[in-house]
Amino acid sequence: MSLLASLALPLLRRMEPERAHALTLWALAHGVVRGETAADDSLLAVEVWGKKISNPIGLAAGFDKNAVVPNAMLRLGFGVVEVGSVTPRPQPGNPRPRLFRLPEDAAVINRLGFNNEGHDAVAARLATRARHGILGINLGANKDSVDRVADYVSGLEELGRFADYVTINVSSPNTPGLRALQSANELDELLARLDEAKQKAHLDLPLVLKIAPDLGTEDLADIARVALARGLAGLAVSNTTVGHREGLRNKFRNEVGGLSGRPLLGPSTEVLAEIYRLTRGRIPLIGVGGVANGADAYAKILAGASLVQLYTALIYQGPALIQQIKRELAARLRADGFASVAAAVGTGTRI
Ligand SMILES: Cc1cc2nc3c(=O)[nH]c(=O)nc-3n(C[C@H](O)[C@H](O)[C@H](O)COP(=O)(O)O)c2cc1C
Repeated sequence: MSLLASLALPLLRRMEPERAHALTLWALAHGVVRGETAADDSLLAVEVWGKKISNPIGLAAGFDKNAVVPNAMLRLGFGVVEVGSVTPRPQPGNPRPRLFRLPEDAAVINRLGFNNEGHDAVAARLATRARHGILGINLGANKDSVDRVADYVSGLEELGRFADYVTINVSSPNTPGLRALQSANELDELLARLDEAKQKAHLDLPLVLKIAPDLGTEDLADIARVALARGLAGLAVSNTTVGHREGLRNKFRNEVGGLSGRPLLGPSTEVLAEIYRLTRGRIPLIGVGGVANGADAYAKILAGASLVQLYTALIYQGPALIQQIKRELAARLRADGFASVAAAVGTGTRI
């Protein structure tokens, strides 16, 4: 870790979380934070959706909601960066406080509620971006929208051309009713309308569906069935959880919102493995939830993930974590005799 980063982390941790986040984004946008620029170990190279990616470690949605620093985050060593969630119209999100650190639990609870600048502002920013690396754009729906499916369709139309893949986020716990879109009928209708919009706009773009970790076995089976039938390109498992508060120590443990970080690792990896089984390994999966080191990333891959994402651990460990995870992951793959990430995907899960 650079000296600056090691000095900045404790200071940032003493600031109110949203102010610390705003300052972090400002520092990234102004080149104050720089990472090591070592080339990735060739063992970490993956190919997903026909795209060659030098490593499978990605930045999860929510860190860069307005696509201010995707290139800075790619330069820090992420193989993939996902920006958003972006909604059609700008919206302020829920009243503050709405973001809580739980350091004893290596966790965060948030009920931000899709605070973001909206499609137009993000499109204007991305139109001037120098394209490199793999960029995912995560789409959300406005809180007061009367047709939420139309919000995702407009996201595809407005922002799709800037993306290497688009994530349809139907799993945020902080927009009332949103998660109902994960049910079989609504999901089928959503994916059908997105497909139509893609064809109309001549967009050849992989669509990823991001799901909650709080779904029952039947819901997961429905999602897998619809995803296979509709030829979905990917599933991201998972968003934050509304459960799993037992055993947490920090005073904020019962705040309303989505829990991320260490307590989510086990539950989200279990759902990931279940989805891998249910889709019989036919759909590339993004494993996200509680990844804080190379062993966690490796566990996601063994459970069935072709790509891994993280956010919360970055808050506690800073940008040096990215290189550390890649080093540890490569060492584990080598130690177990895997010649590539792809060779390890799903080997811990019986199909
Ligand atoms: C502060 C915060 C904001 C988030 N915002 C979004 C979002 O806008 N869209 C989304 O799909 N996921 C969002 N997430 C969820 C993350 O992308 C990720 O799925 C989840 O935090 C689990 O990963 P982690 O344990 O590595 O943080 C957010 C998470 C946090 C902590």
